[in-house]
Amino acid sequence: MSRLAIYPGSFDPPTLGHLDVVARAAHLFDELIVAVGVNSDKAPFLSVEDRLSSLEECVQGMANVRVESFEGLLVDYARRKDCQRIVRGLRAISDFDYEFRVTLANRAMAPEIETVFLITKEEHSFLASSVVREVARLGGRYEGFVPPPVVEKIRKALA
Ligand code: PNS
Repeated sequence: MSRLAIYPGSFDPPTLGHLDVVARAAHLFDELIVAVGVNSDKAPFLSVEDRLSSLEECVQGMANVRVESFEGLLVDYARRKDCQRIVRGLRAISDFDYEFRVTLANRAMAPEIETVFLITKEEHSFLASSVVREVARLGGRYEGFVPPPVVEKIRKALA
């Protein structure tokens, strides 16, 4: 039986930390879907199309990884995909409270779905999409925080 997992996130923008989780999860599971959550209530920094296309470029060499978007509840999306595994990255203790609440809410709605956490690499432990957005908007050097295909998308968003 092929083991499929979903790695969901806003990826606004995707960072090197995200890409590290993708690469490690791709080794753990037979198939991985990187799923961009679309929240139509929030104005994004990068468009969904730019997030999808830059992520697709990033995972080009990973044969068992594909990129999709989803709207609505993550557990409904996972059920539509017949997937019982969700992967999330965990940086510091500050992530824990949010992840704990969301994981328990997801489990209450879909007990068959297990959430697996991958601890970040130390060098990515400070990296967050919100940090990249702020540095980029304030004219700082963000290029070392994101994969090369994302740099172009951020330049376009700032222009
Ligand atoms: O990278 P992020 O911003 O922490 O990703 C959050 C995401 C997209 C995974 C999360 O907001 C999500 O699952 N959204 C879909 C709605 C949902 O199912 N929420 C969880 C129930 S509280």
